[in-house]
Amino acid sequence: MTDVSSQGPARRDDRRVLTNRQGHPVYDNQNQRTVGPRGPATLENYQFLEKISHFDRERIPERVVHARGFVAYGYFEATGKWGDEPITNYTRAKLFAEPGKRTDVAIRLSTVIGGRDSSETARDPRGFAVKFYTEDGNWDLVGNNLAVFFIRDAIKFPDVIHSLKPDPVTFRQEPARIFDFMSQTPEAMHMLVNLFSPRGIPANYRTQQGFGVNTYKWVNAEGVTHLVKYHWIPKIGVKSLTEDDAAAIQAHDLGHASKDMYEAIERGDHPEWELRVQMMSDDDHPELNFDPLDDTKVWPENEFPAMPVGRMVIDRNVENHFLENEQISFGTGVLVDGLDFSDDKMLVGRTFSYSDTQRYRVGPNYLQLPVNSAKNAHVATNQQGGPMAYGVDDVGDNPHVNYEPSITGGLREAEFPTHDDQGPEIRGRLTRKRIPRTNDYEQAGQRYQLMEQWEKDDLVKNLVGGIGQAVRDVQERMVWHFFMCDDELGQRVGDGLGISANDVRDLPPLQSQTLDEDELQRAANLG
Ligand code: HEM
Repeated sequence: MTDVSSQGPARRDDRRVLTNRQGHPVYDNQNQRTVGPRGPATLENYQFLEKISHFDRERIPERVVHARGFVAYGYFEATGKWGDEPITNYTRAKLFAEPGKRTDVAIRLSTVIGGRDSSETARDPRGFAVKFYTEDGNWDLVGNNLAVFFIRDAIKFPDVIHSLKPDPVTFRQEPARIFDFMSQTPEAMHMLVNLFSPRGIPANYRTQQGFGVNTYKWVNAEGVTHLVKYHWIPKIGVKSLTEDDAAAIQAHDLGHASKDMYEAIERGDHPEWELRVQMMSDDDHPELNFDPLDDTKVWPENEFPAMPVGRMVIDRNVENHFLENEQISFGTGVLVDGLDFSDDKMLVGRTFSYSDTQRYRVGPNYLQLPVNSAKNAHVATNQQGGPMAYGVDDVGDNPHVNYEPSITGGLREAEFPTHDDQGPEIRGRLTRKRIPRTNDYEQAGQRYQLMEQWEKDDLVKNLVGGIGQAVRDVQERMVWHFFMCDDELGQRVGDGLGISANDVRDLPPLQSQTLDEDELQRAANLG
């Protein structure tokens, strides 16, 4: 990549001639066409009008979440195995099948809440989105650096994001609003214990993990399905920042994480992650005290080991931010043969939301853009037209036939997969109900117990700092939740806010809360 600052002036004749988009040479780029040197300007001034009106349209809407991000390219290399077994026992996805097989990837690492010029030191989940350009078409694995999420039903996503985004009046992110929402959202506790710990501010994108968070499925050649969760582990280890570290960086740099990635790639110190996969049989698992489709839960690694299935090496920077970063579009619906959805209630909502926003944000032909197209597969569709159509996909041997079926030419359907009916049979009433095994506190408490002392101290300090800005009722409810997670955590956050177990023992029930027997018992004997 050329560094403009290090280039000497080029000899005038060596440089290409500036043109407009119609290919007309530009003779004067300093002065508009005017009647006399002092104006007025003329309306047929095509060169000026084209230049300024294109400039007026230079921005597209930023992503509604994950607006600031960093994109780069590289490859994924498969191990061909899951544990000691050939991976083909579990998935027929070709990109995983052979040891050493490489697939091109694009990766976008991001913050969530801030706008596209916001600080990369924010306490915020980090996006971890990977696009695999496979021979069977693209696969997008759209994850975060924290293993769980705030909510388990997609219908709550606009609310959780509104609470985290700036206040609609003051346009400031307000902890009082965030904890107002979270205090009524017991399933968020596991995420909050992660987010307010040091893991909530990764030192750099290179030092963060990635997680698919939602539960997906693998399908093998016989049509047998398994539930899976994906983990990305950084080769150079996980490193995080305290708020003081973050403030010191933010004072002089809003984009330190992008800079770190860009420079590491340029100097050949290629960022690398291992991809590991947890797996369980495709059923409800009534023996577990959580639902395997609940994205507020992790699967215990001692029972469900995370096995390496490949590594990802990032070795090339983008050439243009707008084309490759602003316009790149990931979605959870973008899967290849051998990979499938689960019935996770977040995943279905996400799968609608991503391509919906991209048709609005980038445009209905966003999949024709080079960064989004399935460049290693053959694309043959009858989709034509729409704003900014750049070309037509392969329509087969007869360009008049852009419909199917036809006996005069055009495209045909692929061979039917041998095992199309996959997974367990599902029956049930149409309903609006929470999942039965909510168990919102146990894993949050375990996460706290597993932290090192300095991480616990940092978590408590950060929680007290944030919750302390909320109204008293919200503070009390948050302390109640933390007592439900772990006595010590409740006690310490309560001490920081001047709230005791006695103060919160008799709070009125939450409207949205369903406690199981154990939790009711615990609530009655809080502290
Ligand atoms: C980006 C929706 C949950 C990870 C986005 C975008 C939307 C969205 C609309 C902007 C996409 C674009 O403009 O291209 C949702 C909804 C969710 C949800 C409706 C819940 C129902 C999650 C979860 C994760 C996640 C649980 C992590 C596992 C990401 C990432 C991006 C993103 C990484 C940025 C992709 C990029 O870099 O372009 N999400 N999201 N989202 N979301 Fe979600």
